[in-house]
Amino acid sequence: MKLNILLLAASIPAAAPFLCGTLTCDGTSVSGKDNVAIGQATQAIGVQGDTAMGFHTTASGSFSTAMGYGCTASALYSTAMGASVEATESESLAVSGNVHSKNAFLHADERLVTGVTDVDTDGSLEAILGLRVVSSRPSEAHCKHMNKTETECENNARSVGLLGQQVQETMPEAVSSGTSMKLVGSDESIDNVVGLNVHAMLANLVGGMQAQAREIEELKALVKEQSVEIEALRK
Ligand SMILES: *[C@@H]1O[C@H](CO)[C@@H](O)[C@H](O)[C@H]1NC(C)=O
Repeated sequence: MKLNILLLAASIPAAAPFLCGTLTCDGTSVSGKDNVAIGQATQAIGVQGDTAMGFHTTASGSFSTAMGYGCTASALYSTAMGASVEATESESLAVSGNVHSKNAFLHADERLVTGVTDVDTDGSLEAILGLRVVSSRPSEAHCKHMNKTETECENNARSVGLLGQQVQETMPEAVSSGTSMKLVGSDESIDNVVGLNVHAMLANLVGGMQAQAREIEELKALVKEQSVEIEALRK
């Protein structure tokens, strides 16, 4: 068993026996500058500042971090966590499971944008009307990513949602891709996994509702007008 942790001497107190006493460092691989690999078969192999922890994780993007089981952080400043995911977009965070938190805030500060113009919200309504709301089960590839047998997967509950590629047709600004999901037990992966930009979706929903409210107001006015006309005809 070869202990292969590279640590900056200055950052660790002289007496730090716990680091080697309690960690399994079998098969770690470390190269580059200031890289650290902790756990079995972990690799910290980018140019600088990579950290790999857990089991079979790889941090190679430089200043990247991979944690968990089989995760890879291959992009600059990226982090991959959980099981069998790869962060392929710089500064991104790839998580294989659900994210639970008290709240989530997405940057929306006006100082971060320029060239602000109003969007024709009739277009938002059109875009919403074009979306397919579907019920589905995890695909065979997704089951392989989750390391579940076909039977286990068939028992998975159906869930309701949208299809990223279909959303892309009407709201190209609302989708993005930046992770790769590995299939357990093979070299294959689902690359460029499409994700929805929740902020853009929300903006389109708000715009669509505004357009709908305008239509309803117009219809109400029309009905009122017609009621008056009917009333007049009756007399
Ligand atoms: C996948 O599942 C099998 C059987 O349950 C288990 O032995 C194996 O460690 C799992 N592999 C990963 C990568 O989770």
